[in-house]
Amino acid sequence: MNYNGIIDKYRDYLPVTKKTPIVTLLEGNTPLIPSQNLSSMLGKGFEVFLKYEGLNPTGSFKDRGMTMAVSKAIEEGTEAVMCASTGNTSASAAAFAARSGIRCIVLIPKGAIALGKLAQALIHGAQVIAIDGNFDDALDLVKQITDQHPITLVNSLNPFRIEGQKTASFEICDMLDDAPDFQCMPVGNAGNITAYWKGYKEYKQKGRSTRLPMMCGFQAAGSAPIVHGRPIKNPETIATAIRIGNPASWQQAVAARDESGGLIDMVTDEEILKAYQILAAKEGVFVEPASAASVAGLIKLHEQGYFTENRKLNTANRNIQIVCILTGHGLKDPDRAIRCVREPITVEAKLETVMEAIGL
Ligand code: F0G
Repeated sequence: MNYNGIIDKYRDYLPVTKKTPIVTLLEGNTPLIPSQNLSSMLGKGFEVFLKYEGLNPTGSFKDRGMTMAVSKAIEEGTEAVMCASTGNTSASAAAFAARSGIRCIVLIPKGAIALGKLAQALIHGAQVIAIDGNFDDALDLVKQITDQHPITLVNSLNPFRIEGQKTASFEICDMLDDAPDFQCMPVGNAGNITAYWKGYKEYKQKGRSTRLPMMCGFQAAGSAPIVHGRPIKNPETIATAIRIGNPASWQQAVAARDESGGLIDMVTDEEILKAYQILAAKEGVFVEPASAASVAGLIKLHEQGYFTENRKLNTANRNIQIVCILTGHGLKDPDRAIRCVREPITVEAKLETVMEAIGL
């Protein structure tokens, strides 16, 4: 069967009708890659999978939400969409707006988004405005503007974004034949953890899965409002995608944590960069730093004995499955990659010098 994007695939679970004009880039259907290294790190009886959302058309999971948000916006007759963004939402909104021929306006925190994401928003023709403030300031402004003007807000406060993004949990259940036992993921504005949890609950309710995963969300240590239980005024982290001090879906994230019996913890920039390099160098999977928070969190919890502790509670005679969500592609932020490694050496264009440099 031809693949026609998440709305076509999961139509029965989404608020669309025959009349909804579907704007799609054939997003979704991303691979669930078994991780040999992380599975053996956890030991016998555990299986770790990487859901590589960086392989969506604009390089992040946002496309799942954006196909829904833009399709519904067009159905409602909107002529412009707007968002605040740490980069990926704006890249995705710009692409889907370009495809449907509507205007896209984005507000970004000045100097704090990765270059690849800025390039995407600009090349897709969005009107990009950098503000002298952070993501939270930008979102406040966007809410005010879209409240007063006929412009559709396409941040994850838009319920259609959540609807689209929940399809990632459907895919995971379809691929594993049931829900995993644990899910590790980054938390920024907290829309994605809200969406996954909604998806898992709906699939179970409809009899498509038999269990629910424990949801483990990770914020960056310098931007961890949910962990600290209060908004952070000046959030800081190298994982710019999740540099957010006052998440819009805070309450829903807390509900996902508590209903699933999981947790929301934080990981340091150092732990994020370590996981970032492990993923690239040992798994062959290049992600952006924010995405590596999933694996940094997995490693942290493993070192604390969290999974074995929880495993004891599980009497099922099968492997415990853990899925780490890798939300965005590494090419979004090449500067960060280059800064983590040794730059290539330059030698004369001569066989002997090249051979010598290689060590042959
Ligand atoms: N990972 C990446 C790569 C992201 O871009 C984001 C959010 C998250 C994780 C966190 O997801 O906000 O649903 O909790 N990026 C938004 C943006 C804020 O503007 O692109 P969340």
